[in-house]
Amino acid sequence: MTSDVIKKLNKIYAEALEEVGKGKLYAQRRVELEIKYLGRKGKLNDVFKEMAVLSDSARKEVGVLANKLKSDLKLQLGQAQLQNKKSATTITFDETIPGARPKIGSLHPITQFLERIMAVFSTLGFEIVEDREVETTVYNFDKLNIAFDHPARDMWDTFYIKIKNKKEKIKNKEESSLVLRTHTSPVQIRAMEKRRPPVRLVVPGRVYRHEATDASHETNFYQLEGLVIDRNISVANMIYVLHTVLKQLFGDKVKIRIRPSFFPFVEPGHEVDMSCIICEQKGCSVCSGTGWLEMLGAGMVHPVVLKNMKVDPDKYSGFAFGMGVDRLIMLYHGINDIRLSYSGDLRFLKQF
Ligand code: DAH
Repeated sequence: MTSDVIKKLNKIYAEALEEVGKGKLYAQRRVELEIKYLGRKGKLNDVFKEMAVLSDSARKEVGVLANKLKSDLKLQLGQAQLQNKKSATTITFDETIPGARPKIGSLHPITQFLERIMAVFSTLGFEIVEDREVETTVYNFDKLNIAFDHPARDMWDTFYIKIKNKKEKIKNKEESSLVLRTHTSPVQIRAMEKRRPPVRLVVPGRVYRHEATDASHETNFYQLEGLVIDRNISVANMIYVLHTVLKQLFGDKVKIRIRPSFFPFVEPGHEVDMSCIICEQKGCSVCSGTGWLEMLGAGMVHPVVLKNMKVDPDKYSGFAFGMGVDRLIMLYHGINDIRLSYSGDLRFLKQF
C-alpha cells in the first residue's frame, strides 16, 4: 500500500518534470503547471487524500517524501522560468542598438516657405493680415471692380456655395452669394474697413479655383497678397519693394522686369517677371528659353477700388500685388508637381 502511494508520487513528479522541461516556460505556463501539480486541487494533493488509510509511520514517510517533491518541483519551476528569461534576454537584447527614437513632425513646406516670405515682408514694415476663405461675391468681385460679366465669375472658374433654401440667390449673381474665395484680393477691402492710410500689409492664405488638376494646377493653392497705400506712392515704390523681396528669397543676382497687364482692380496693371534662377538667363525648359519667369501680378490700386475702401484717390495712391506661393516654392525647391504639396505623402513631406 505504502509503496503504491510512493510510486504514484514519483510518477507524478516525473511527469511534472517532463512538462517543465518541454518548451519555454513563460510566466503563464508556470502558473498553469503550479495549479496542475501543486495547487489545492492539484495532482500531488490528490495523492495526499489516499494517505488516510495508511499507518501512522507510513503516513509520515509518505508525507515527508510528498513535501520534498513539492518543494523540489517549485524550485524546478522557478529555475526553468529564470532560465527562459535569461535565454530570452541574451538573444533579443543588444544594448549597443540605439533606442527607438520618437518620430518628430515638422512644419509643412508651404508653411515653412510662407514664414520665410513673411519674415522678409516684416523687415520691410509690413503687417500680416488674415481673413475668411468663404467670401461673398461682393467682396470677391464687385468691390474689386470686377464687372458682373467678367469670366472669373463663371461657374467654371468659381466654387459657388449653395445656401440652404436660397438656391435662387446663386442663379441670380447680381445678388451677393457665397464663394470660396478665388484670390486673396478681397482681403484688401476687408483690411481697409478697419484701417486708414498709411498701410503696408500682406495677406497669406488659401484660394480656390474650379480647375482640372495637373502638374501645375490645383483646385486650392496659396496666394500672398500685398497692399501699400500712402501719399505719393508710385510704380517706383512697387518695383523697389518687389525687387527687394525677390532678391531676399532667391538671391542678390535676381533681376526683375515689369510688363503691362490687366487686372480690373489696378490701373495701370503689371505682370512682374524674375530672371530665371535655374539657367541664369541662358535659356532652359523652366523659363521656356526666355530667361524670364512670370512671378506675380501687380499694379497701382484702381481709383474705384480706393473709393470702395473709403480712401480719397486724390489724396492717396497705392500699389497692390498677388503672388502664387506654390509656384515660388516649386521654383525654390525644384518641385515639378504642385499636387505633391497637398498629397499628404510622408515620403515627400519628410524631405523638408
Ligand atoms: N488676384 C490676382 C489673381 O488671383 C492677382 C493680383 C494681381 C493681385 C494684381 C493683385 C494685383 O493685388 O494688383 O490672379
